[in-house]
Amino acid sequence: MMTCQNSRGDALLEALDALAQISDEPGCLTRLYLSPAHQRAARHVKSLMRAAGMQAEIDTVGNVVGRYSGSRDLPCLMLGSHIDTVRDAGKFDGSLGVLAAIAVVRELAAAKERLHHPIEIVAFGEEEGVRFPTNLLTSRSLAGRVRADEFEVRDENGISVREALAQFGGDADAFGLVARKHGDIAAYVELHIEQGPVLEAEGRALGIVTAINGAARLHVDVTGVAGHSGTVPMRLRQDALAAAAEMVLAVEREAKSQPDLVATVGVLDNNSGAVNVISGHVRFTIDIRHPDDAVRKASMRRIETALSSIAERRRVRQKMWVFSESRATAMDRRLIGELEKVLLGLGQSPQRLNSGAGHDAMALATLCPTAMLFVRCRGGISHNPLELISREDAELAVRVLLETVRRFDDAL
Ligand code: GLV
Ligand code: MN
Ligand code: MN
Repeated sequence: MMTCQNSRGDALLEALDALAQISDEPGCLTRLYLSPAHQRAARHVKSLMRAAGMQAEIDTVGNVVGRYSGSRDLPCLMLGSHIDTVRDAGKFDGSLGVLAAIAVVRELAAAKERLHHPIEIVAFGEEEGVRFPTNLLTSRSLAGRVRADEFEVRDENGISVREALAQFGGDADAFGLVARKHGDIAAYVELHIEQGPVLEAEGRALGIVTAINGAARLHVDVTGVAGHSGTVPMRLRQDALAAAAEMVLAVEREAKSQPDLVATVGVLDNNSGAVNVISGHVRFTIDIRHPDDAVRKASMRRIETALSSIAERRRVRQKMWVFSESRATAMDRRLIGELEKVLLGLGQSPQRLNSGAGHDAMALATLCPTAMLFVRCRGGISHNPLELISREDAELAVRVLLETVRRFDDAL
Protein backbone atom coordinates (compact mmCIF):
# COMPACT_ATOMS: atom_id res chain seq x y z
CA MET A 1 0.00 0.00 0.00
CA MET A 2 1.45 3.42 -0.94
CA THR A 3 0.67 6.55 0.96
CA CYS A 4 0.50 9.60 -1.27
CA GLN A 5 3.32 12.13 -0.90
CA ASN A 6 1.64 15.01 0.81
CA SER A 7 -0.33 12.94 3.24
CA ARG A 8 2.89 11.41 4.61
CA GLY A 9 4.39 14.84 5.26
CA ASP A 10 1.10 16.22 6.58
CA ALA A 11 0.58 13.25 8.88
CA LEU A 12 4.07 13.62 10.34
CA LEU A 13 3.66 17.37 10.89
CA GLU A 14 0.27 16.79 12.53
CA ALA A 15 1.76 14.16 14.83
CA LEU A 16 4.55 16.59 15.77
CA ASP A 17 1.97 19.30 16.53
CA ALA A 18 -0.01 16.94 18.73
CA LEU A 19 3.06 15.80 20.69
CA ALA A 20 4.16 19.43 21.12
CA GLN A 21 0.88 20.17 22.91
CA ILE A 22 2.15 18.02 25.78
CA SER A 23 4.10 20.51 27.83
CA ASP A 24 4.87 21.39 31.45
CA GLU A 25 4.34 25.08 30.72
CA PRO A 26 1.28 26.71 29.19
CA GLY A 27 1.91 28.56 25.93
CA CYS A 28 5.28 26.98 25.15
CA LEU A 29 6.92 23.57 24.86
CA THR A 30 8.93 22.51 27.90
CA ARG A 31 9.13 18.79 28.64
CA LEU A 32 11.91 17.88 31.04
CA TYR A 33 12.94 14.33 31.91
CA LEU A 34 10.49 12.62 34.33
CA SER A 35 8.17 15.64 34.53
CA PRO A 36 4.37 15.23 34.36
CA ALA A 37 4.48 16.27 30.68
CA HIS A 38 7.19 13.69 29.98
CA GLN A 39 4.95 11.05 31.53
CA ARG A 40 1.96 12.10 29.42
CA ALA A 41 4.15 12.24 26.30
CA ALA A 42 5.58 8.77 27.01
CA ARG A 43 2.06 7.32 27.32
CA HIS A 44 1.01 9.13 24.14
CA VAL A 45 4.01 7.74 22.22
CA LYS A 46 3.35 4.25 23.61
CA SER A 47 -0.22 4.36 22.30
CA LEU A 48 1.00 5.64 18.90
CA MET A 49 3.40 2.70 18.72
CA ARG A 50 0.64 0.25 19.57
CA ALA A 51 -1.72 1.81 17.05
CA ALA A 52 1.06 1.44 14.44
CA GLY A 53 1.18 -2.32 15.04
CA MET A 54 3.95 -2.60 17.62
CA GLN A 55 4.22 -3.99 21.12
CA ALA A 56 5.25 -1.10 23.36
CA GLU A 57 6.21 -0.50 26.99
CA ILE A 58 7.84 2.18 29.11
CA ASP A 59 11.07 0.84 30.61
CA THR A 60 12.48 1.32 34.12
CA VAL A 61 14.40 4.51 33.25
CA GLY A 62 11.54 6.16 31.35
CA ASN A 63 12.24 5.21 27.72
CA VAL A 64 9.32 4.15 25.54
CA VAL A 65 10.32 1.01 23.65
CA GLY A 66 8.28 -0.40 20.76
CA ARG A 67 8.87 -3.62 18.85
CA TYR A 68 7.66 -4.77 15.46
CA SER A 69 8.70 -8.38 15.17
CA GLY A 70 10.63 -9.74 12.23
CA SER A 71 10.27 -12.97 10.32
CA ARG A 72 13.58 -14.35 11.62
CA ASP A 73 15.31 -14.57 14.97
CA LEU A 74 17.80 -11.76 14.30
CA PRO A 75 19.17 -8.77 16.23
CA CYS A 76 16.90 -5.76 15.87
CA LEU A 77 17.20 -2.70 13.68
CA MET A 78 16.75 0.11 16.19
CA LEU A 79 15.37 3.55 15.32
CA GLY A 80 15.05 6.29 17.88
CA SER A 81 15.57 9.71 19.31
CA HIS A 82 14.38 11.59 22.41
CA ILE A 83 11.13 13.16 23.64
CA ASP A 84 12.51 15.42 26.37
CA THR A 85 13.08 19.05 25.36
CA VAL A 86 14.90 22.18 26.42
CA ARG A 87 12.82 24.99 27.98
CA ASP A 88 10.67 26.85 25.44
CA ALA A 89 11.71 24.35 22.79
CA GLY A 90 10.92 23.75 19.16
CA LYS A 91 8.76 20.76 18.36
CA PHE A 92 11.16 18.87 16.04
CA ASP A 93 14.31 18.33 18.14
CA GLY A 94 14.10 14.65 19.12
CA SER A 95 10.39 14.17 18.45
CA LEU A 96 10.96 14.17 14.68
CA GLY A 97 13.07 11.00 14.81
CA VAL A 98 10.63 9.19 17.08
CA LEU A 99 7.49 10.06 15.13
CA ALA A 100 9.08 9.49 11.70
CA ALA A 101 10.16 6.03 12.89
CA ILE A 102 6.61 5.24 14.05
CA ALA A 103 5.33 6.43 10.65
CA VAL A 104 7.72 3.96 8.98
CA VAL A 105 6.45 1.01 11.02
CA ARG A 106 2.85 2.11 10.51
CA GLU A 107 3.43 1.93 6.75
CA LEU A 108 5.09 -1.48 6.95
CA ALA A 109 2.30 -2.84 9.16
CA ALA A 110 -0.43 -1.37 6.94
CA ALA A 111 1.16 -3.09 3.95
CA LYS A 112 1.57 -6.30 6.01
CA GLU A 113 5.27 -6.09 5.20
CA ARG A 114 7.50 -7.86 7.69
CA LEU A 115 11.29 -7.52 7.50
CA HIS A 116 13.66 -10.32 8.46
CA HIS A 117 14.94 -8.21 11.38
CA PRO A 118 12.66 -6.99 14.13
CA ILE A 119 12.41 -3.21 14.29
CA GLU A 120 12.58 -1.49 17.64
CA ILE A 121 11.82 2.17 18.21
CA VAL A 122 13.04 3.92 21.34
CA ALA A 123 11.79 7.31 22.52
CA PHE A 124 14.60 8.18 24.92
CA GLY A 125 13.70 10.14 28.04
CA GLU A 126 16.81 12.16 28.84
CA GLU A 127 18.88 13.64 26.07
CA GLU A 128 18.93 17.36 26.83
CA GLY A 129 20.50 17.29 30.31
CA VAL A 130 18.37 20.29 31.29
CA ARG A 131 16.59 19.16 34.47
CA PHE A 132 19.41 17.14 36.03
CA PRO A 133 23.19 17.45 35.54
CA THR A 134 23.09 14.27 33.48
CA ASN A 135 24.35 13.33 30.06
CA LEU A 136 22.39 10.94 27.79
CA LEU A 137 21.38 9.02 30.91
CA THR A 138 18.67 6.95 29.26
CA SER A 139 20.48 6.02 26.04
CA ARG A 140 23.61 5.20 28.04
CA SER A 141 21.42 2.98 30.24
CA LEU A 142 20.33 1.11 27.12
CA ALA A 143 23.96 0.90 25.98
CA GLY A 144 24.92 -0.50 29.41
CA ARG A 145 27.19 2.46 30.16
CA VAL A 146 25.67 4.03 33.24
CA ARG A 147 26.69 3.87 36.91
CA ALA A 148 24.28 3.52 39.84
CA ASP A 149 25.44 6.81 41.41
CA GLU A 150 24.30 8.76 38.33
CA PHE A 151 20.72 8.30 39.56
CA GLU A 152 21.51 10.22 42.77
CA VAL A 153 22.11 13.64 41.18
CA ARG A 154 19.47 16.29 41.97
CA ASP A 155 17.52 18.95 40.10
CA GLU A 156 17.32 22.58 41.25
CA ASN A 157 14.48 21.66 43.65
CA GLY A 158 16.61 19.01 45.34
CA ILE A 159 14.75 16.05 43.75
CA SER A 160 17.05 13.20 42.72
CA VAL A 161 16.69 11.20 39.51
CA ARG A 162 15.97 8.19 41.74
CA GLU A 163 13.05 10.00 43.44
CA ALA A 164 11.69 11.42 40.19
CA LEU A 165 11.90 7.98 38.57
CA ALA A 166 9.96 6.39 41.44
CA GLN A 167 7.22 8.99 40.97
CA PHE A 168 7.23 8.40 37.22
CA GLY A 169 6.72 4.67 37.75
CA GLY A 170 10.32 3.70 36.98
CA ASP A 171 12.98 2.22 39.24
CA ALA A 172 16.55 3.47 39.60
CA ASP A 173 17.60 0.13 41.10
CA ALA A 174 16.46 -1.66 37.96
CA PHE A 175 18.46 0.39 35.42
CA GLY A 176 20.42 -2.76 34.55
CA LEU A 177 17.27 -4.31 33.03
CA VAL A 178 17.37 -1.74 30.24
CA ALA A 179 20.90 -2.60 29.10
CA ARG A 180 21.33 -4.42 25.79
CA LYS A 181 24.24 -6.69 24.99
CA HIS A 182 26.71 -6.55 22.12
CA GLY A 183 25.03 -8.30 19.22
CA ASP A 184 21.45 -7.44 20.29
CA ILE A 185 21.22 -4.51 17.88
CA ALA A 186 22.23 -4.91 14.22
CA ALA A 187 22.19 -1.12 13.70
CA TYR A 188 20.87 2.02 15.36
CA VAL A 189 19.65 4.82 13.09
CA GLU A 190 18.62 8.23 14.38
CA LEU A 191 16.84 10.77 12.21
CA HIS A 192 17.09 14.30 13.62
CA ILE A 193 16.76 17.89 12.50
CA GLU A 194 20.15 19.31 11.64
CA GLN A 195 19.86 22.19 14.15
CA GLY A 196 22.35 24.15 12.06
CA PRO A 197 22.47 25.96 8.70
CA VAL A 198 24.62 23.67 6.49
CA LEU A 199 21.98 21.68 4.60
CA GLU A 200 19.90 24.77 3.88
CA ALA A 201 22.98 26.57 2.58
CA GLU A 202 23.86 23.59 0.35
CA GLY A 203 20.29 23.28 -0.93
CA ARG A 204 19.94 19.69 0.35
CA ALA A 205 16.96 18.26 2.21
CA LEU A 206 18.84 15.48 3.99
CA GLY A 207 22.38 14.81 5.12
CA ILE A 208 24.37 11.87 6.43
CA VAL A 209 26.28 12.46 9.65
CA THR A 210 29.91 11.40 9.62
CA ALA A 211 30.76 12.18 13.27
CA ILE A 212 29.37 13.92 16.33
CA ASN A 213 31.52 16.53 18.03
CA GLY A 214 32.80 15.90 21.53
CA ALA A 215 31.43 18.14 24.28
CA ALA A 216 31.99 19.03 27.90
CA ARG A 217 29.73 20.86 30.32
CA LEU A 218 31.16 22.66 33.31
CA HIS A 219 30.03 24.61 36.34
CA VAL A 220 32.00 27.62 37.52
CA ASP A 221 31.51 29.01 41.03
CA VAL A 222 32.75 32.52 41.70
CA THR A 223 32.79 33.69 45.30
CA GLY A 224 33.47 37.32 46.19
CA VAL A 225 32.27 39.39 49.13
CA ALA A 226 28.69 40.66 49.20
CA GLY A 227 28.48 44.28 50.33
CA HIS A 228 26.55 47.53 50.38
CA SER A 229 26.40 49.14 46.94
CA GLY A 230 26.55 52.61 48.47
CA THR A 231 29.37 52.26 50.94
CA VAL A 232 32.14 50.07 49.52
CA PRO A 233 34.51 52.08 47.27
CA MET A 234 35.16 50.53 43.84
CA ARG A 235 38.82 49.78 44.61
CA LEU A 236 37.90 47.72 47.68
CA ARG A 237 35.25 45.52 46.10
CA GLN A 238 35.38 41.77 45.50
CA ASP A 239 32.43 41.71 43.12
CA ALA A 240 31.61 38.16 41.98
CA LEU A 241 29.33 39.28 39.15
CA ALA A 242 31.83 41.71 37.64
CA ALA A 243 34.47 38.95 37.79
CA ALA A 244 32.06 36.47 36.20
CA ALA A 245 31.31 38.95 33.41
CA GLU A 246 35.00 39.14 32.60
CA MET A 247 35.21 35.34 32.72
CA VAL A 248 32.31 34.96 30.27
CA LEU A 249 34.18 37.17 27.80
CA ALA A 250 37.37 35.14 28.34
CA VAL A 251 35.42 31.98 27.41
CA GLU A 252 34.14 33.69 24.28
CA ARG A 253 37.62 34.89 23.36
CA GLU A 254 39.07 31.39 23.65
CA ALA A 255 36.27 29.94 21.49
CA LYS A 256 36.87 32.54 18.80
CA SER A 257 40.58 31.81 18.78
CA GLN A 258 40.24 28.15 17.64
CA PRO A 259 38.71 27.08 14.34
CA ASP A 260 35.57 24.93 14.86
CA LEU A 261 35.56 25.44 18.64
CA VAL A 262 32.26 26.61 20.14
CA ALA A 263 31.78 27.58 23.78
CA THR A 264 28.63 28.93 25.41
CA VAL A 265 27.74 30.34 28.80
CA GLY A 266 24.05 29.41 28.85
CA VAL A 267 23.26 29.92 32.54
CA LEU A 268 24.53 32.65 34.83
CA ASP A 269 22.99 32.85 38.28
CA ASN A 270 23.77 35.81 40.53
CA ASN A 271 22.72 34.13 43.73
CA SER A 272 21.54 36.96 45.94
CA GLY A 273 21.03 39.58 43.27
CA ALA A 274 19.52 42.86 44.44
CA VAL A 275 19.85 46.39 43.12
CA ASN A 276 21.80 47.63 46.14
CA VAL A 277 23.97 44.59 46.87
CA ILE A 278 27.46 43.93 45.49
CA SER A 279 27.39 40.36 44.22
CA GLY A 280 28.88 37.81 46.61
CA HIS A 281 28.39 34.61 44.64
CA VAL A 282 27.77 33.67 41.02
CA ARG A 283 27.49 30.31 39.38
CA PHE A 284 27.64 29.89 35.61
CA THR A 285 27.87 27.06 33.11
CA ILE A 286 30.15 26.48 30.15
CA ASP A 287 29.28 24.18 27.23
CA ILE A 288 32.29 23.61 24.99
CA ARG A 289 32.50 21.48 21.83
CA HIS A 290 34.94 20.57 19.07
CA PRO A 291 35.35 17.71 16.55
CA ASP A 292 38.77 16.89 18.06
CA ASP A 293 38.78 16.01 21.77
CA ALA A 294 42.44 17.01 22.19
CA VAL A 295 41.77 20.51 20.86
CA ARG A 296 38.74 20.85 23.17
CA LYS A 297 40.70 19.69 26.20
CA ALA A 298 43.56 22.10 25.48
CA SER A 299 41.03 24.94 25.28
CA MET A 300 39.46 23.86 28.56
CA ARG A 301 42.88 24.08 30.20
CA ARG A 302 43.47 27.56 28.76
CA ILE A 303 40.02 28.67 29.96
CA GLU A 304 40.81 27.42 33.45
CA THR A 305 44.08 29.39 33.46
CA ALA A 306 42.34 32.54 32.20
CA LEU A 307 39.58 32.25 34.81
CA SER A 308 42.09 31.71 37.62
CA SER A 309 44.05 34.77 36.64
CA ILE A 310 40.87 36.93 36.48
CA ALA A 311 39.88 35.61 39.91
CA GLU A 312 43.30 36.38 41.35
CA ARG A 313 43.40 39.91 39.97
CA ARG A 314 39.89 40.64 41.27
CA ARG A 315 40.48 38.90 44.63
CA VAL A 316 37.57 36.47 44.26
CA ARG A 317 37.67 32.68 44.53
CA GLN A 318 36.93 30.56 41.50
CA LYS A 319 36.15 26.85 41.25
CA MET A 320 35.46 25.10 37.97
CA TRP A 321 34.44 21.48 37.43
CA VAL A 322 33.23 19.27 34.60
CA PHE A 323 29.82 17.69 35.21
CA SER A 324 29.40 15.95 31.90
CA GLU A 325 31.63 15.00 29.01
CA SER A 326 31.14 13.10 25.75
CA ARG A 327 33.90 12.11 23.41
CA ALA A 328 33.72 12.89 19.70
CA THR A 329 31.98 9.92 18.08
CA ALA A 330 32.39 8.64 14.52
CA MET A 331 29.41 7.07 12.81
CA ASP A 332 29.73 3.59 11.29
CA ARG A 333 31.45 3.71 7.88
CA ARG A 334 29.56 0.80 6.43
CA LEU A 335 26.20 2.27 7.44
CA ILE A 336 27.23 5.64 5.99
CA GLY A 337 27.89 3.86 2.68
CA GLU A 338 24.50 2.12 2.81
CA LEU A 339 22.75 5.42 3.59
CA GLU A 340 24.45 6.99 0.58
CA LYS A 341 22.99 4.26 -1.62
CA VAL A 342 19.53 4.87 -0.14
CA LEU A 343 19.74 8.61 -0.87
CA LEU A 344 21.10 8.08 -4.37
CA GLY A 345 18.32 5.55 -5.02
CA LEU A 346 15.77 8.23 -4.16
CA GLY A 347 17.43 10.77 -6.43
CA GLN A 348 19.02 12.68 -3.55
CA SER A 349 22.59 13.82 -3.42
CA PRO A 350 24.32 12.22 -0.41
CA GLN A 351 25.65 15.25 1.45
CA ARG A 352 27.88 14.37 4.41
CA LEU A 353 28.25 16.60 7.45
CA ASN A 354 29.42 16.71 11.04
CA SER A 355 27.08 17.14 13.99
CA GLY A 356 27.78 20.03 16.32
CA ALA A 357 24.90 18.96 18.60
CA GLY A 358 25.01 15.94 20.88
CA HIS A 359 22.68 12.99 20.25
CA ASP A 360 21.60 9.66 21.75
CA ALA A 361 23.52 8.12 18.82
CA MET A 362 26.73 8.89 20.77
CA ALA A 363 25.67 6.44 23.47
CA LEU A 364 24.44 3.79 21.02
CA ALA A 365 27.69 3.98 19.03
CA THR A 366 29.46 2.42 22.04
CA LEU A 367 27.30 -0.69 21.60
CA CYS A 368 26.39 -1.20 17.95
CA PRO A 369 26.91 0.15 14.41
CA THR A 370 25.26 3.56 14.45
CA ALA A 371 24.23 6.11 11.84
CA MET A 372 22.41 9.43 11.72
CA LEU A 373 20.38 11.25 9.11
CA PHE A 374 19.82 14.99 9.36
CA VAL A 375 16.84 16.87 7.99
CA ARG A 376 17.28 20.49 6.93
CA CYS A 377 15.65 23.06 9.23
CA ARG A 378 14.64 26.60 8.39
CA GLY A 379 17.38 29.13 9.03
CA GLY A 380 19.37 26.49 10.93
CA ILE A 381 17.32 27.49 13.98
CA SER A 382 16.92 25.07 16.88
CA HIS A 383 16.45 25.06 20.66
CA ASN A 384 13.93 27.75 19.81
CA PRO A 385 10.16 27.61 19.24
CA LEU A 386 10.81 28.83 15.67
CA GLU A 387 12.31 25.44 14.70
CA LEU A 388 10.71 24.33 11.42
CA ILE A 389 11.02 21.76 8.65
CA SER A 390 8.97 21.83 5.45
CA ARG A 391 6.19 19.40 4.64
CA GLU A 392 8.16 18.19 1.61
CA ASP A 393 11.24 17.47 3.74
CA ALA A 394 9.06 15.69 6.31
CA GLU A 395 7.65 13.50 3.54
CA LEU A 396 11.13 12.76 2.21
CA ALA A 397 12.42 11.97 5.70
CA VAL A 398 9.82 9.22 6.17
CA ARG A 399 10.52 7.82 2.70
CA VAL A 400 14.26 7.74 3.30
CA LEU A 401 13.88 6.14 6.72
CA LEU A 402 11.55 3.51 5.24
CA GLU A 403 14.02 2.70 2.46
CA THR A 404 16.82 2.68 5.03
CA VAL A 405 15.24 -0.06 7.14
CA ARG A 406 14.52 -2.09 4.01
CA ARG A 407 18.10 -1.69 2.77
CA PHE A 408 19.66 -2.42 6.18
CA ASP A 409 17.39 -5.47 6.47
CA ASP A 410 18.97 -6.84 3.27
CA ALA A 411 22.52 -5.67 3.90
CA LEU A 412 23.04 -6.59 7.57
C1 GLV B 1 21.54 18.58 22.78
O1 GLV B 1 20.64 19.19 22.22
C2 GLV B 1 22.84 19.19 22.86
O2 GLV B 1 23.06 19.96 23.80
O3 GLV B 1 23.66 18.98 21.95
MN1 MN C 1 18.08 16.44 20.03
MN1 MN D 1 18.29 19.48 21.85
